[in-house]
Amino acid sequence: MNLHALLENMTLREKLAQLTQLDGQFHVPGGGEELTGPLHDMHIREEDVAASGSVLGAIGAQRTRAIQEQHLKADRHHIPLLFMLDVIHGFRTIFPIPLALGCTWDPELVQEAMRVAAKEASAAGIHVNFSPMADLVRDARWGRVMESTGEDPYLNGLFAAAFVRGYQGDDLRDPDSLAACVKHLAAYGAAEAGRDYNAVELGQYALRAFYFPAYQAALDAGAAMVMSSFNALNGIPSTANAWLLRDVLRGEWKFNGPVISDWGAVQELVNHGVAEDGREAGLKALKAGVEIEMMTSDYLQYGEELVETGELDEALVDQAVLRLLELKEKMGLFDDPYRQASPEKEKAVLGCPAHRQLARKTAARSLVLLKNEGNLLPLSKESRVAVIGPYGTARHLLGGWSCTGRDEETVSLYEGLLEKAPASRFSVCAGAGFYPDDPLSLDEAVAAAREADVVLLALGEHPDMSGEATSRAFLDIPAGQTELARAVFALGKPTAVVLFNGRPLDLREISEKADAVVEAWFPGSEGGAAVADLLYGDVLPQGRLTMSFPYAVGQVPVYYNGFNTGRPIDREWSDQRYLSRYIDIPNAPLYPFGFGLNFSSVKYEGLRLSGRCAESNLEARVTLTNMGEYPAEEVAQLYIRDVSASVVRPVKELKAYRRVPLAPGESREVVFPVNTDMLAFVHEDGSRYAEPGRFRLMVGPHAAELLETEFTL
Ligand code: GLC
Repeated sequence: MNLHALLENMTLREKLAQLTQLDGQFHVPGGGEELTGPLHDMHIREEDVAASGSVLGAIGAQRTRAIQEQHLKADRHHIPLLFMLDVIHGFRTIFPIPLALGCTWDPELVQEAMRVAAKEASAAGIHVNFSPMADLVRDARWGRVMESTGEDPYLNGLFAAAFVRGYQGDDLRDPDSLAACVKHLAAYGAAEAGRDYNAVELGQYALRAFYFPAYQAALDAGAAMVMSSFNALNGIPSTANAWLLRDVLRGEWKFNGPVISDWGAVQELVNHGVAEDGREAGLKALKAGVEIEMMTSDYLQYGEELVETGELDEALVDQAVLRLLELKEKMGLFDDPYRQASPEKEKAVLGCPAHRQLARKTAARSLVLLKNEGNLLPLSKESRVAVIGPYGTARHLLGGWSCTGRDEETVSLYEGLLEKAPASRFSVCAGAGFYPDDPLSLDEAVAAAREADVVLLALGEHPDMSGEATSRAFLDIPAGQTELARAVFALGKPTAVVLFNGRPLDLREISEKADAVVEAWFPGSEGGAAVADLLYGDVLPQGRLTMSFPYAVGQVPVYYNGFNTGRPIDREWSDQRYLSRYIDIPNAPLYPFGFGLNFSSVKYEGLRLSGRCAESNLEARVTLTNMGEYPAEEVAQLYIRDVSASVVRPVKELKAYRRVPLAPGESREVVFPVNTDMLAFVHEDGSRYAEPGRFRLMVGPHAAELLETEFTL
């Protein structure tokens, strides 16, 4: 296809329509009534819909084929539509939320899971996926932490690249592939006070060293598109931020694909106060480098006039349209606008047994065992178990951004348990307990608990409390559940708490009073089965936290890779008053980054280096021993600290990790090559290099329990 010739034949209005993305509801085969509603308010004409370039939210092979067929007839140039959707952690088979996927510390497994998501979504007619969300997160008050893989730039980069590889495969022309759109550029996760859509203020060093790397990793993996973020970044909203979208994204990172605004973010420049009206908003966004306007119509409404007055150079419009056409070409849309999507293919792949099995395996690997006093877990299949709390039988385990999943196809915890032992072993007192006034019979729960050998308290956030626009000022479990938990704890029965939630919570009381605590997150379509697999020991606990659990919400933002300050609390004069500390809580989070238990304890000893300086193929070695009677899947973690540099450096940074299977009693030596690239960091001017000096090297099971040694560069 000669795209330049195609472009030359397009009128300016057709080009502007190509850059406009409308909701699927406006692309109704036969058209008509929809145009009198919202579209009319958006000053969009029927011919604009016919010339538009992409669709958001049209789902299903039959529907997307019908829209595409109608469009190809109506569009003068027969340019196929791109169908775009958020397939954040699965399409019909829903995998755990990304914050849980991150806890697998297994990018290869997650890549396999995202390949399934791509196969299912592409069968249903989707072409572009608004994923991976590569925003670094440090603030559990922000509801969208559920969409991220956590607080570490290195791990987030590994996962962002794995998501892209899973979606895009080896060839965008492969009908099973989706084009990945990495988001939200930039630093949306640093919204002030954890309040969604709020302003972000970050210096160049923080942006480049901590917030940019995961976006870059996604682009290095070949992500086809980028989405600009809602937030203002250092006073300029990302959607109007030419430094970000042109100087950095195009100039430094050499990205040449289309940039799409987030939903309505172009028009929102007026709310931000950087545009007088939609006309100025459209001008600023296009000039800043946003090619596709999602769900508003400033480009269409004002683009022709802006070109006529000379305020907008039509060459910018041409460049934007060309980038979009090139993506359509890369996806083979001009050859096959339907990309083999069909109801038959949908029927064969959506939610098929193989996909569900992978969902169960992935969910099991994402669970984090936070406490297991007296080895309460794994449970005996002979025990009488009281299953108490709203998540005992609930099916809404899919979590945010799972609109194409189906609760009714989700395995509840109770259903998972019934695979392990007969119903006679269980008494169930589910109740609701999500909100303070929910009906929850305490007496019934206490009576059930009294009769049982073990209590399973299934608690957590309601799905409506997690995801976009769900910032919370408190991180406790919903009120009704605290009262329920206290009543059960008071009985002194062996009690395991299983949590279903989308963010780190304040678990002080639960952690103190429960015998065992399992963080299940929102585990997806096979969630209940995966949790039961772990509770009965059919899978080993392997998950490790990728986001710190605060001791209290007042600690937030809390993260492992912070700076030492001039008055670190760890200094020997610990009774000193004048240190960087709280007077009412510890500095340390309740559960640190990298934390997660096995059924057995694993000892780390004998950390040693092959030399004292980094130039000479340095290797770190440590011996791990399984001290228990269960096999262990240990995640040995390597952290490094640049002790003295031209800027303050984090007290530790994850640089490598190893999954180490250990049979009971087995010892194994783990070797970590140390290379100078691990010592490099991004400087304020964007350059990345290591500085000579002293480095501390640490190895251990998580960020707060580490053996240490030193070397120099
Ligand atoms: C939302 C989200 C973004 C999503 C887009 C389209 O508001 O911010 O992540 O991709 O709209 O659904």
